[in-house]
Amino acid sequence: MNLIQSHRLALIILSLLSFNSIAYAVDINAGKDKAGFCLHCHGAGGNSSNPQFPSLAGQRVLYLESQLKAFQSGRRVNSMMQGMVSKLSKQDISNISAYFSSLPAKSAGGGNASLAKKGQSQIAMCTGCHGKAAKGRGRFPKLAGQQPKYIEKQLLDFKNRSRKGGPMNNVASSLSKQSIKEIAAYLGNL
Ligand code: HEC
Ligand code: HEC
Repeated sequence: MNLIQSHRLALIILSLLSFNSIAYAVDINAGKDKAGFCLHCHGAGGNSSNPQFPSLAGQRVLYLESQLKAFQSGRRVNSMMQGMVSKLSKQDISNISAYFSSLPAKSAGGGNASLAKKGQSQIAMCTGCHGKAAKGRGRFPKLAGQQPKYIEKQLLDFKNRSRKGGPMNNVASSLSKQSIKEIAAYLGNL
């Protein structure tokens, strides 16, 4: 490599590095400031105590970002959430997602014990994507400790296709309503 070539290479690397630091500059404190209102529904510290609302604490950043963008574009529909996201910028979404992801998660619990026992044997196919012990991985959400009623509703929404979820529409279609109850009880108690 001659001198000019190595200069060019250095410039390219420098510009890539600075591009990355701009694209990924997240500000957790700014996210916290914007997230105050969210806690009314999603619970203190992002741990929901109401089965209607999902916990957000400890959820994967990429997944949170993708869902906030999906509510914004209308790909995912929920009347409560649509109003919440309409004024958020891309930067707000990155900051808020980083904030919730950084919070310590508590298990929602509350899943019926005998249902949960039956659910345990059915989640092997889920952990391939949702990670070991269903703790989430990259864009695959953490399911462990999520509100069981919320998980149940999402699986039914995927099944009847009122929520679009890539592979989840086929996964949920393959599950009976009874299996969905059992799996949701098991995951919520993790
Ligand atoms: C009035 C209650 C309410 C408020 C306030 C609220 N949310 Fe929600 N949120 C919901 C409901 C209900 C759902 C579940 C929708 C569904 O069933 O699909 C939800 C779902 C979500 C999800 C998807 C979670 C998942 O596991 O898929 C994210 C992310 C989220 N909210 C973030 C926020 C943020 C960020 C704020 C504040 C800017 C906020 N919410 C404020 C009610 C609320
Ligand atoms: C091929 C990969 C894959 C497999 C296998 C899979 N999932 Fe998913 N799952 C996803 C993806 C991707 C999403 C996010 C969908 C979206 O963007 O809305 C998701 C989302 C979900 C959600 C919504 C979570 C939330 O917070 O709203 C639930 C619940 C869920 N999956 C349960 C399951 C269960 C239970 C199984 C096993 C029976 C399973 N998944 C198997 C990829 C998978």
